[in-house]
This record gives sequence, C-alpha cells and structure tokens, in this order.
Amino acid sequence: MAQLEQIAAPGSEWWRSAVIYQIYPRSFADASGDGIGDLPGITSRLDSLRDLGIDAIWLSPFMTSPQKDAGYDVADYRDVDPLFGTLADFDEMLAEAHTRGIRVIVDLVPNHSSDQHVWFQEALKAGPGSPERARYVFRDGKGKNGELPPNNWESVFGGGMWERVVEADGAPGQWYLHIFDPTQPDFDWTNEEVKEEFRSILRFWLDRGVDGFRVDVAHGMVKEAGLPDYAPVADADSMGGGEENVPYWGQNDVHDIYRDWHELLAEYDGDRALCGEAWLPTLKKTALWVRPDEMHQTFNFPYLMTPWDAKALGDVIRESLDEFGKVGAPSTWVLSNHDVVRHASRLALTADNPQGEGIGPETPSKPDTKIGLARARAATMLMLALPGSAYLYQGEELGLPEAMEIPDEFRQDPTWFRTNGERYGRDGCRVPLPWEADAPAFGFNGTGLSWLPQPAEWATYARDTETADESSTLSLYKRLLSARRERGFGSGSLVWEDAGKDAVAFRRGDVHVLANLGTKPLPLPAGATVVLASQSFTGAAVPVDTAVWYTTA
Ligand code: GLC
Repeated sequence: MAQLEQIAAPGSEWWRSAVIYQIYPRSFADASGDGIGDLPGITSRLDSLRDLGIDAIWLSPFMTSPQKDAGYDVADYRDVDPLFGTLADFDEMLAEAHTRGIRVIVDLVPNHSSDQHVWFQEALKAGPGSPERARYVFRDGKGKNGELPPNNWESVFGGGMWERVVEADGAPGQWYLHIFDPTQPDFDWTNEEVKEEFRSILRFWLDRGVDGFRVDVAHGMVKEAGLPDYAPVADADSMGGGEENVPYWGQNDVHDIYRDWHELLAEYDGDRALCGEAWLPTLKKTALWVRPDEMHQTFNFPYLMTPWDAKALGDVIRESLDEFGKVGAPSTWVLSNHDVVRHASRLALTADNPQGEGIGPETPSKPDTKIGLARARAATMLMLALPGSAYLYQGEELGLPEAMEIPDEFRQDPTWFRTNGERYGRDGCRVPLPWEADAPAFGFNGTGLSWLPQPAEWATYARDTETADESSTLSLYKRLLSARRERGFGSGSLVWEDAGKDAVAFRRGDVHVLANLGTKPLPLPAGATVVLASQSFTGAAVPVDTAVWYTTA
C-alpha cells in the first residue's frame, strides 16, 4: 500500500470523501481478446484512472460464475472466474492499483448464490428437511399437491419469485425462493452456517488486501418471518425504492449482519469499508444502513432517481446531508451505475425511468443526446462540489450515452428474457468502453470482439479523442476532480444560496456553485469570475442545462 495512508484520524477516513470509480470488469478492458473484459485488462489501464484523478475503484463481481446475471450469480466466492483471469491476476491488479494510490473495493453478493454453487447443488440432492436445504429458502408449495408457489411474491426480473425443484425420486417437490433469476437462489440469513461462511469470505478478501466491499442487495437478505403474501403497488420500483413495508426489503434484522461485519472489518488496519446497495423509499430509512456501528457508506439512490428539476434536486441534497449527518455518516452521491440508464441519457428522459427498464430500438421517444450530455455534465459538476463521497460509473467520464440500438439477438440481461422482451433491461449501460477511436473494438481489445456491440458513433467518445480535446467531457472530469481535491470539497459543509427557482446554488468556501435547470439563461452576479463551467459560454449569464463554479472579487 505504498502511497496509501494506513490509519486515518477518526472522522477523516478515506471513504468519507473519496471519489470511487465503478469498474464493470466485462466491459472495461479486454487483455485476452475474447470480447469480454478481464483483470489483466484493468491492470493495463490503471494509469488512465490515475490520470483521471479518482481515489478508489469498485469492481463489479469477477468471482467464479456461470454468468447468468453477469457475475451477480456467484458459484465460488473465493476464486476468479476464468473469463476474468486468476487469483494471481487479481493480486497483481490490487498491488498495481495500490502502487498508484488507488484503493480497491470488491463486490460481495451475499443475498443469493448461483444455482451452481456447491451448497445449492448439495441442497438439491439432500432433500426436504435437510441441513443442506436450510442454507437456502426452501418451502413446500401450496395447493393439493404442493403445485402452487408458497406465496405470491414477484421476482425483480419478472415472473414469480419461486422455482419448483424435482426431488431425487423424480417427483416434483419443494420450491426455493429467488428474488432475482431462478439461477440465483436466496440464502437463508437466519442460518448460522450462512453467517459463518460469509465471515470467512470477508476475511478471504480482506487478507488479500482489499479496502472494502460493495454489498449487493444489502436491503434484501432478511425476509419477513412467515413470508406473508405481498402485492406490490402498480409500477412500483421492483428493487424497493418506492414502497414501505415490503416483506423482502429493508427488514429490521438485516442490520445485525452489518453490525457483525463492522466489527470484523475493524479488526483490520487501513479503514476497510462497507458500502451497501440498498434501494429504500426514503433517505431517513437509507441512513439506517450507516449508523455508526453498521456500514460505512450506502448508495444515495433517492439522489440518483431525482429528475432534472431544481426544486427536487435541491431538496434531495438538503435531505441527504441532513439524514446522513444525523447518524454521523458521509453522504454519498451517484448518478450512474450498471443497473440504470446512463445519466447522459436518463436526464433527458421525459418520463421517469429510475431502475433502468432500459431503452431499445423500439422505445417510442428516445432522449435527446445533446440535451442529455449537457445536463449530465452540469449534474456531475454539481455532484463533485458536494461534501461526501461520490461514485462514478465507467464511461460517464467520456459522456457516454445509453446504447439505445442494441439488436435483440445480442441482449443478455435476464430482465429482457424474464419479461419476454417487455423490458429492455440494463444491457444499454454495459457496452464495452471505447479507448481508441481507430483501433479494433475502439481499443477495448486487439481483436475487435465485443460481447455487446459498440455503436459506431462511439469513436467520438473514445478516450484518446477526448484526451486531446480540452472541451471534452473527459477533460472536464479531470479538471473537476483535481479542483475538488485541491479545494477539499469532499469534506466540510456547504452554504445554500438563493439564485431563483430554476437554480441549485450553494457556496463552498469562496467558490460559488450554480446550476441552471430552467429554460432561460441565469445572470451571474456582477464581478463573478468563472473558475470552471460544464460547457463554455460567453457573456455574463449561465446557459440552460449548465453549471458553473465561480468566485467573486
Ligand atoms: C444488484 C446488482 C444487479 C444484480 C442484482 C442481483 O442489484 O447491482 O446488477 O442484477 O443485484 O444480484
């Protein structure tokens, strides 16, 4: 950990103010040339992340997996999938990141395993009532012959949440619970063996030197006792972002797991951190995940889901600072990830599309790319001026839009299959990155293969093109990240300013931050000097969909 501080003073831990860059390994960089990104690919491109100016990376899952949900279906939590390389490749990547002063967080998927996990295979063989089945949520079906599922819950990916198994004697038997795909059976987190296994998995990666974990589905691991029927309200966000009292989201006992893990991480040096993926209806509830003895961070999904509206954005920022502040946790900020429509497209949608039902060739009104990009740049400019920790998703620093024209035959997201093509799902935000405009697969690899097709127009977003262009989104991100670091914007507090109903405006020290979300240019105060702007403009008024950092004499 050459350049990393080992111990921080209480309250100044790195994760309180870090900018954390999400790498989606299958789409970042592909050293093997098979069309799927890998760990050696990541290692080979670490310099570009150092140059960008981020503090840490979070890697989506690269563990052994049949890839039914792009690695979020783990068959062996202690090994690397051959698609991505080997444990030695991981160690090398980790060491190389640390040498560059970049911390590394890995994804942990504790709600469910793959159906190919040895425990699930044992559970199938062992039969009803066995300790092997007790590691998962097996139940007898309802109806005369158990032919009906144990309750009416609906999977996040569409269809029912239960799958019936065939018992050893060949007869239809019990059912098992899967919040997601049938290939992702849920663990039973009331089972002591499950708890012990995950303590050991945490230690496995902590011993290797990881700086923390992004915890998948951190609001879903505990289900309400008795598994009561539940019908979601129409059009509710399937991940739980819109509703109170869902029997499989946000159950109280889930917090005991994180209190346990908090203590385990505290045994290690270097401020190892837990960041929860918990989609909850309110910020008040979200803040429960980061009480002082639980997780260190949790994603601010209410912020991500906020439409491009000055009042709504101002309100969510205020409430975030307030609610996270009350429990002594940093607020986090995030605009994009591998599950939602990229914010360079999402912010120009006319109807809300928060949990990424996706955009595809047949979507009736597609977001305008130019408006989307202007808003995305302004939104990021605002975000990177906020106190707390910010998450970036690979490709947003290039201003990548959602890939909206992926032909059906390339789609891989289980959402697409489970809804019979009704929901496009998340493939559009997962397309491999463009590195070099003139290289095969835009430099993603040397062979030109790509597991999802890259749009031809992505040459203009390639990293080499943008590096050479002062006005590119990449150049803007670099300037923002360096100024954020220099000015210490990741910590401290902000002072709100009034710039009218169409603006979000606040001050950080002597820097004023102003974003124009309205329909008319917003005049700057007399004597204002623009330090940075999300797009260049002349005159003394901030254009529509633009943000600035400015000082006054
Ligand atoms: C999380 C992941 C998502 C995955 C799901 C099931 O929401 O971010 O990609 O499909 O969990 O593991």
